Amino acid sequence: MGEYAGLGDVRGKRVLVRSDLNVPLDGPDDALVITDDGRIRASVPTIQALSDAGARVIVTAHLGRPKGAPEARFSLAPVARRLGELLGKPVAFAEDTVGESARAAVAALEDGDVVVLENVRFNPGETSKDDAERSAFADQLADLADAFVSDGFGVVHRKQASVYDVAQRLPHAMGSLVGTEIEVLRRLTADPERPYVVVLGGSKVSDKLGVIDNLLSKADKLLIGGGMVFTFLKAQGHEVGKSLLEEDQVETCRSYLQRAAESGVQILLPVDVVVDTEFPGGERAPAPQVVAADQIPADSLGLDIGPASAAEFSSALSDARTVFWNGPMGVFETPEFSAGTRAVAQALIDVTERGGLSVVGGGDSAAAVRALGFDETAFGHISTGGGASLEYLEGKELPGITVLETSDSTKD
Ligand code: 3PG
Repeated sequence: MGEYAGLGDVRGKRVLVRSDLNVPLDGPDDALVITDDGRIRASVPTIQALSDAGARVIVTAHLGRPKGAPEARFSLAPVARRLGELLGKPVAFAEDTVGESARAAVAALEDGDVVVLENVRFNPGETSKDDAERSAFADQLADLADAFVSDGFGVVHRKQASVYDVAQRLPHAMGSLVGTEIEVLRRLTADPERPYVVVLGGSKVSDKLGVIDNLLSKADKLLIGGGMVFTFLKAQGHEVGKSLLEEDQVETCRSYLQRAAESGVQILLPVDVVVDTEFPGGERAPAPQVVAADQIPADSLGLDIGPASAAEFSSALSDARTVFWNGPMGVFETPEFSAGTRAVAQALIDVTERGGLSVVGGGDSAAAVRALGFDETAFGHISTGGGASLEYLEGKELPGITVLETSDSTKD
């Protein structure tokens, strides 16, 4: 009773928890609605466990990328309300992060109570590249608490005050969410059961260069869709019309195709594409058309992989024992351009049903499986961290993990 793994007896102690509550919101600034609460739900077990153990729980998190000053549309107030609903008990909200409101809210906590502090990125010290400025802010955060639990997996790749520096100042432990995420990613990187297939999508190839580079020597197959695929199609010499294109990455994509051919890694690009003459979302109803991937009309842009490609990708996944998927195959928010993403999600579920490990790598792909109505428990694991899981797979060091392992966890 009163114990929290790694911290010992936490009853009556003020425990600062770094969660990743960076959820998508929609609507006017004064009536914002959370459109996907997956990250809040994933954060509940650690907060609940600490509260059950009698800790006075202080949750710190960010929302969006404010520029170091308060902005109403980035307030964590709606998130705190949702957390209260999920915990089934009142959750206090402090209108600043380390100021008067935060200090008063923390002082008012009783054992088992929970408070959410306002967006930590409203403070310039949080994301500062200046060690001294970050340290000064971390000191203020640490002053609020007796111990620290790192549970925001989506931010462990960020060397920021509430992720990194604060862990050097307080007795600390890894939260259960971060623990689970790291365990799954270790299974993917250490010795994945083969065939190991990676599916990459999303808009920008420049975000995925490191991971592609690394996977070319690790995965058996690489399936590529989403907006990033058009830079690959261009690298193969095809015209891509008005599709998303990163001209400055064409050469890099060409070198990846070449390396894959030499090393025996199969890179699968779509053979057909769903196009339209405009990006969806305006007044005009979508007018999808399926064309061959090397026949994209000059006035059109690709918005999803086509049905033949979806079938080919599903078949490429049919013998997989390990799959990692990051990035939707198309503009899944519009039903006319969601079939490719749906097919990949279903293929991952099939892998799980056959006893393999399927991992949805955070960000938009995690939002997509929920938005498309898939049962989350049908996947092996849905990560809460897009950038963080990609950086792990790239083989990069994650500062938020390293600091837990290297700094004295009992330090007061
Ligand atoms: C995410 O959305 O991937 C995390 O919350 C991290 O956000 P960031 O990319 O703004 O640091």
